[in-house]
Amino acid sequence: MLDKAKRLLEPSRRSEVPPFIVMDVMAAAARIEASGGHVIHMEVGQPAAPAPATAIAAAQSALAQGRIGYTECLGIPSLRNRIARHYGDAYGLSLDPARIVVTTGSSGGFILAFLSLFEPGDRVALANPGYPPYRHILTALGCEPVLIETSPQTRWALTGEQLLAAHRKKSLAGVVVASPANPTGTMMNADALSDLIASAEGEGIRVISDEIYHGLDYAFPAVTAASLSERALIINSFSKYFCMTGWRIGWMVVPDNLVRPVERLQQNLAISVPTLSQVAAQAAFDGRAEMEAVKHGYEENRRILTEGLPKAGLDKFLPVDGAFYLYADVSRFSNDSAVFAKQMLEQAHVAATPGVDFDPLHGRDYVRFCYAGSADEMREAVSRIHRWLSR
Ligand SMILES: Cc1ncc(COP(=O)(O)O)c(C=O)c1O
Repeated sequence: MLDKAKRLLEPSRRSEVPPFIVMDVMAAAARIEASGGHVIHMEVGQPAAPAPATAIAAAQSALAQGRIGYTECLGIPSLRNRIARHYGDAYGLSLDPARIVVTTGSSGGFILAFLSLFEPGDRVALANPGYPPYRHILTALGCEPVLIETSPQTRWALTGEQLLAAHRKKSLAGVVVASPANPTGTMMNADALSDLIASAEGEGIRVISDEIYHGLDYAFPAVTAASLSERALIINSFSKYFCMTGWRIGWMVVPDNLVRPVERLQQNLAISVPTLSQVAAQAAFDGRAEMEAVKHGYEENRRILTEGLPKAGLDKFLPVDGAFYLYADVSRFSNDSAVFAKQMLEQAHVAATPGVDFDPLHGRDYVRFCYAGSADEMREAVSRIHRWLSR
């Protein structure tokens, strides 16, 4: 009897995924602000700017019409066409719109991708450090995330050689790549990405390319895996370049044979993606000039930090290639980046995310700064960190 009652209260084992530590930093920052402190927020990975005006206007006009119904499960056809056209504009690539699947953010895309590609127990390689939900979603779905350590020699990217070495030890079913990457902000060039994809596909390892930070590339243009393989599954989103995090809208480019399986999954899991967000997303493509101005702001922020942080004492960081992250080595100051971040927040009122969120192995040495705020905030952050570290 007791056992049965206990079962009614117990969550499933697969729900036991670790929390996102950045949320704890946000809560601590909110406490400081509630007592009158002014915190510079560099912890959360989201743009400070709103969605393009074109997107907001389209959503307002759709809302004024009244009824917001379901849409086609794979997305409104005109949006899928527009996304396919984007591949022509951005990469000179002709894509069949039938391969585009509109998703609830890229987060919704990961669930569909992992469910349609992998069986429970399948092993999926991930670069370490990396975006934590990759491993947590895989774990929740019964797959095994396999962390492969990256290093400065390869610009903190996975190589084909490393992937094959891991595969020889124990068979891999998939690999997730991201360029630009979170938390490092580093990118893979065309050679590195094609080497990884060729190595993976030669062994039947499925490739998932998270391209959410495409458009936010400063060092060199980002390469889409769609131009290198028709079998790779591409995940993207309106959250970052188009500043639409809260709209929860993204997309995938899937291989032909996955369109129907993904459609069946999405029919059952979501029916369709929020209609208003789809309408806004389509119009967002007309707001590129506004978004390019936002991007130039990030470039300026990047310059302020890459020049200012070394003078403030933080002179070791990874190449700041793309996205809006700078991943700094703080081991000179602390052997625990969580303590470093906590003290920086409490004493300098600058919030950043400790590396342990992204890297269970060496995260204690790193802190991630998000530079998606204003240039004034970046300058103020640099001077606060300078004062704090030289106190
Ligand atoms: C690398 C990466 N992928 C995916 C996501 C999820 O974004 P969304 O679900 O808003 O598209 C994020 C969010 O920070 C990210 O950094």
